[in-house]
Amino acid sequence: MGVSQLAYVGINITDVAAWRHLATDILGMEERKRKGGGPLYYRVDDHHHRFALHPGKTDGVAYMGWETSTRADFDETVESVKRAGLKVTPGTKKEKDLRKVLELAKFTDPGGFPMEICYGPLHDEDPFRPGRAISGFHADLLGAGHVVLCYGDYKPSYEFYTKYMGFRLSDYIQFPETEVAFLHCNPRHHSLALFNEGLGSKPGTLNHFSLQMNSIDDVGRAYDLCKEHDVPLALSIGRHTNDEMISFYLISPSGFAIEVGYGGLEVDDETWEEKNYTAAAYWGHSPEAGLTGGGPKKSSGKRARAAS
Ligand SMILES: [Fe+2]
Repeated sequence: MGVSQLAYVGINITDVAAWRHLATDILGMEERKRKGGGPLYYRVDDHHHRFALHPGKTDGVAYMGWETSTRADFDETVESVKRAGLKVTPGTKKEKDLRKVLELAKFTDPGGFPMEICYGPLHDEDPFRPGRAISGFHADLLGAGHVVLCYGDYKPSYEFYTKYMGFRLSDYIQFPETEVAFLHCNPRHHSLALFNEGLGSKPGTLNHFSLQMNSIDDVGRAYDLCKEHDVPLALSIGRHTNDEMISFYLISPSGFAIEVGYGGLEVDDETWEEKNYTAAAYWGHSPEAGLTGGGPKKSSGKRARAAS
């Protein structure tokens, strides 16, 4: 029972040009050919897509999809979410077609985040072709990356994800103003992290999602490209304590941050020890514009647009 990876993230966006420039030219994702007025799909591995951008009038996370490895796991996890007392809505044929999955179920987590469970993601027969010359992304069975979410009180959601969705605790980081619980559902140190209001984020918002690259040089080049193209940064390059990732944070045109990193720790459940930290970084990660997790920053959109 339980989910096995972060399958995809859906994002509502207002500034299409800035996002396309960021996703392909800076980050190196592959943009799929867009059909009609559908979402903009971005690949980072063999999955049909890992990120779906929905142009419209608002910015922010639209949904997050959690994949199960088998159909039996899908059925059991859906039943488990119902046992937790949450209302589960089956995905419609149109929604399954849009997500490119065989099975889909939707629910709202205890903090109000729109979540989905899916099974049978479409894989592409063509190899991944990055938007710029990079070594590729560390994804595949580890999933798209991780999402870090801000709650009013994360404890009910912690209970839900660990008891009913199959997540296991990796560790905590306790800051003076808040604490973060890092959860894994495969060897990636965390696919999901939960924290209470703090770090500049408001409850109900995505603080950041991450992309892990296969080469530290690709992270460094992305950092250089952000500076060159005037993409605003939230945190400078640094190394995290708990997952040991070397990364930096940029501010997306929708206001939340994106962590671009290399070398994240992988967890072996047989030997893993749950830990606690009081600092997020061994070095670096010093504030640039700060991690807001809020609505779109007009300045970032303008700056990114100007560079495209
Ligand atoms: Fe992160």
